[in-house]
Amino acid sequence: MNHIELLKKEHENILRMLDVLHKASLNVLQNYEIDVDDLKKMVAFIRRYADKTHHGKEEKYLFKAMVEDLGGPAQKVIQGGMLIEHDLGRLYVSDLDEALDAYKEHPADEHKLAILVAAGSYEHLLRRHIQKENETVFTFGEKHLSEKSMNWVEEQSQAFEADVENAAEREYQLQVLKELELKY
Ligand SMILES: [Fe+2]
Ligand SMILES: [Fe+2]
Repeated sequence: MNHIELLKKEHENILRMLDVLHKASLNVLQNYEIDVDDLKKMVAFIRRYADKTHHGKEEKYLFKAMVEDLGGPAQKVIQGGMLIEHDLGRLYVSDLDEALDAYKEHPADEHKLAILVAAGSYEHLLRRHIQKENETVFTFGEKHLSEKSMNWVEEQSQAFEADVENAAEREYQLQVLKELELKY
């Protein structure tokens, strides 16, 4: 699997977690149930897998190479679009985490609403973000980056994947995803 294929595979796993988050949100509306511990697991997956592992690789390797080597439209779409969306995602996840803490402390409707708003905002943002990367940004990089740059991206990516701590974190989060999928 090359680096772009790996990033697309990770998108599939992130979308699976977005489906879980969506079902958990529906559960709040339909059954008035909030399982704070499960939602905290979703927050941890988003932070460690979607953000640290996946967005981290995009920012440090592929997008870095595209900005430095291609400039122009690639720079515009990455710096003015993709990176801003990564940051916005971090904000929504912090909002979700804070709303969960507030709800645990005091289970009021106000906090329940904040949970739904943050979860829905994150889901909506990430689905569109992933679609843009799959359909245009990655394809553009694959087509226009030089062989030398693409090789550098591959080497960095392989080193990241081979790191024992990164591999353990990835396996752990994917296991949590499977367990949540069975439940939701
Ligand atoms: Fe991204
Ligand atoms: Fe991505």
